[in-house]
Amino acid sequence: MLKFLILFVLCFTSSALAEGITCSDIVPLKNRRYNISLTAFGGVGDGRTLNTKAFREAIFQIQQWGREGGTLLYIPPGVYLTESFNLTSHMTLYLAPGAVIKATQVTHNWPLTAPLPSYGRGRELPGGRYMSFIHGDGVNDVVITGENGTIDGQGDIWWNMWRKRTLQFTRPSLLELVNSTNIIISNLIFLNSPFWNLHPVYCSNVVVRFVTILAPHDSPNTDGIDPDSSSNVCIEDSYISTGDDLVAVKSGWDEYGIAYGRPSSDITIRRVNGSTPFSGIAVGSETSGGVENVLAEHINLYNTGVGIHIKTDTGRGGQIRNITVLDVYVQGARKGIKIAGDVGGHPDDKFDPKALPIVNGITIKNVRGVKVLQAGLIQGLRNAPFTGICLSDVNFLGVKGSARSPSWKCSDVLGAAHQVSPWPCSALTNNQSGSCANYSQV
Ligand SMILES: *[C@@H]1O[C@H](CO)[C@@H](O)[C@H](O)[C@H]1NC(C)=O
Ligand SMILES: *[C@@H]1O[C@H](CO)[C@@H](O)[C@H](O)[C@H]1NC(C)=O
Ligand SMILES: *[C@@H]1O[C@H](CO)[C@@H](O)[C@H](O)[C@H]1NC(C)=O
Ligand SMILES: *[C@@H]1O[C@H](CO)[C@@H](O)[C@H](O)[C@H]1NC(C)=O
Ligand SMILES: *[C@@H]1O[C@H](CO)[C@@H](O)[C@H](O)[C@H]1NC(C)=O
Repeated sequence: MLKFLILFVLCFTSSALAEGITCSDIVPLKNRRYNISLTAFGGVGDGRTLNTKAFREAIFQIQQWGREGGTLLYIPPGVYLTESFNLTSHMTLYLAPGAVIKATQVTHNWPLTAPLPSYGRGRELPGGRYMSFIHGDGVNDVVITGENGTIDGQGDIWWNMWRKRTLQFTRPSLLELVNSTNIIISNLIFLNSPFWNLHPVYCSNVVVRFVTILAPHDSPNTDGIDPDSSSNVCIEDSYISTGDDLVAVKSGWDEYGIAYGRPSSDITIRRVNGSTPFSGIAVGSETSGGVENVLAEHINLYNTGVGIHIKTDTGRGGQIRNITVLDVYVQGARKGIKIAGDVGGHPDDKFDPKALPIVNGITIKNVRGVKVLQAGLIQGLRNAPFTGICLSDVNFLGVKGSARSPSWKCSDVLGAAHQVSPWPCSALTNNQSGSCANYSQV
């Protein structure tokens, strides 16, 4: 009997630790009661006809049918040009193979929406923001999926407005979900977002899996996935190549984020690959509501600015704690690891310079890099040193250390290092006792 029990425990433990772990049981996939096609609402997939009315009427119909089993909105093969539209609860937006939902490039009557309370203003410009191309506010039980159809933001017109400084408001995200729960985004391609790609904010129970997110490396602020003041977010098995951070966990901006006080917590990122001139896996820089319990593992980064980046600023406040990054491969990066307290700027001059962020408990383990120019830059704040920074089994090849640009540069940091090459700064290797409480469990 005991033998069986031990066997059972062993099997259970090893399967729980195996690579097969997925997010899929956080939010169960739904079979819907109704199935309607966009064409039944006048949708035309010729790439030229504007389908705004078809989308809005189909979704209005889904809203009328309500929660009883929900409805699948089927997008057949074809290219469906449209203005922005809102999702509703209990729906599946399903893109057939070869289905493309394409954003109009007519921007003068693009709808506006209020600033997020945790940002106090648009991220780029004061005031409201252009509504995301696909938008959900207060929705529950929404699946956005298919057989790898495409959601195309046609962002170049917006990138050019940014470059020419002719934007009036903050650019639209490709897909933003505000105050929403039980969301699955899977088996889709997201192309050329005007701004951030996927932005769940004030959400819980969000799964993103088997997605491909693409935008040119020179496209401004095209972050891949930004979980923002959200909890229970799971991102896996995805490829992201964009012009800004691949995944950046956020929680609001300076005095607005502090006042709103909504953290991001319990975020899992696994089996994600990609490339960007900015950061691969990031926390920040907007972290004023706090960020805790983040696990990123099995990440492959190619030609990336910074591999792993924790970033915050004076005036942010917020606590960043219990962040674990495991099993990362980096091939080509300016910096392997950066943890810094002077990144990101302020919404206005009303931020409180005494609102210092607290960074405590960052574990980075089993990282291998080749063609990494600088191993790490870890810069805490003089009045708020970063603590519990634990590095173990970190190995970067190709580092070109010099007096001006040492292979590791640290200040105002306490932590520990174990099997790190090149050998990091003394702040980590002197192993201040107690400053790295979880280190023995790494
Ligand atoms: C929904 O309807 C479309 C045709 O309009 C069909 O091709 C598709 O297989 C249906 N999907 C489901 C899940 O029933
Ligand atoms: C979409 O939802 C927003 C609220 O989030 C609302 O202001 C707007 O009128 C809605 N647009 C349409 C077309 O229903
Ligand atoms: C969030 O959405 C729910 C409906 O799901 C609504 O009752 C609530 O008022 C919304 N909260 C905010 C702050 O908009
Ligand atoms: C969609 O693409 C992903 C990743 O490229 C792949 O793993 C998945 O099998 C594809 N799904 C379908 C339904 O074709
Ligand atoms: C990520 O890269 C690894 C190693 O090359 C590969 O095995 C895996 O299939 C890739 N996954 C995705 C989602 O691109």
